[in-house]
Amino acid sequence: MKVAILGANGQLGSDLVKVFGEEAIPLTRRDLDVTDLESVKILNEFKPDVIINTAAYVRVDDAEVEVEKAFRVNAIGAFNVAKACNEINAVNVYISTDYVFDGAKGEPYEEDDVPNPINVYGLSKYTGEVFTRNYSEKYYVIRVASLYGKAGARGKGGNFVDSMIQKAKNGEEIKVVDDTFMSSTYTKDVSRMLKRFLDLDLDLSIKPEFWVYHIVNEGYCNWYDFTKEIFTILDWDAKNQISPIKSSELKRLARRPIFSALKNKKLDDLGLRMRNWKEALKDYLIEKGGVDEWRGARGKRRKADG
Ligand SMILES: NC(=O)c1ccc[n+]([C@@H]2O[C@H](COP(=O)([O-])OP(=O)(O)OC[C@H]3O[C@@H](n4cnc5c(N)ncnc54)[C@H](OP(=O)(O)O)[C@@H]3O)[C@@H](O)[C@H]2O)c1
Repeated sequence: MKVAILGANGQLGSDLVKVFGEEAIPLTRRDLDVTDLESVKILNEFKPDVIINTAAYVRVDDAEVEVEKAFRVNAIGAFNVAKACNEINAVNVYISTDYVFDGAKGEPYEEDDVPNPINVYGLSKYTGEVFTRNYSEKYYVIRVASLYGKAGARGKGGNFVDSMIQKAKNGEEIKVVDDTFMSSTYTKDVSRMLKRFLDLDLDLSIKPEFWVYHIVNEGYCNWYDFTKEIFTILDWDAKNQISPIKSSELKRLARRPIFSALKNKKLDDLGLRMRNWKEALKDYLIEKGGVDEWRGARGKRRKADG
């Protein structure tokens, strides 16, 4: 299987490139700009079986003022990729988001729940979903949420976990919302699951139907509990530096759903299971070297104190 990965140097894209290994055809924005139909035609040269489109405008607050830019990448880009996939008979995999939902459900969203985005980013991604579904002959829409991965989100200049650690290192006071719930998810886990999922696509006896799928780590929490868990895993007393606040206290341009946890219902139906968010977070912190680094730093401090 040849798998073209768009946004290959992004947070999710770079993990997908690693997981797909020799099957991967990594394409960055320099190779292929999804907003430019001519540039998308480069896919004809590679003739991949599958195209995973992670290319996106991801800055949720900026999207409220850069509406056109967000739609150009997330929606028109999806339309261009859908057309290119049809020409070469490739499966189109569009990566989408939990922000297509308004949060009113108050319990984890399933794939068939009706989206109702409440910010420009969510609406642009939902439009991308609809373009993907209605213009692609073969497609999967994969919704992920609250991503963290080794590369950090290029569009956001890093990920939430690393930024909390950095703040703790700087001795800053950390205020985090405790009234907004989500499914935090490790990009390595999404990448591995997507590979298993696409391998099923090749097996005609269980080939998943072309539709929407959620791929998130199991369970959910609010951002405050997520942050506390980071420092619990690191066994670091920065816990005392963290305090809960309400989302209304943050003056942000974009509204966010207060409950956007996702349920992997369709994966479960296929017998595929993601691990729990706490296990994934621990693994991320260990792999990133964070746990050793923090313990080392604490050891040194204790020696100095002693
Ligand atoms: N991060 C999250 O918490 C989150 C949550 C839910 C869903 N998602 C979705 O997950 C996907 C991956 O996000 P991520 O966290 O990996 O973000 P990211 O690191 O910012 O990756 C996005 C990638 O898209 C590329 N890109 C932007 N505009 C492009 C264009 N016009 N043509 C081609 N490539 C373009 C960027 O390249 P340059 O940087 O070189 O421009 C970057 O490599 C996105 O679809 C996003 O909507 C993310």
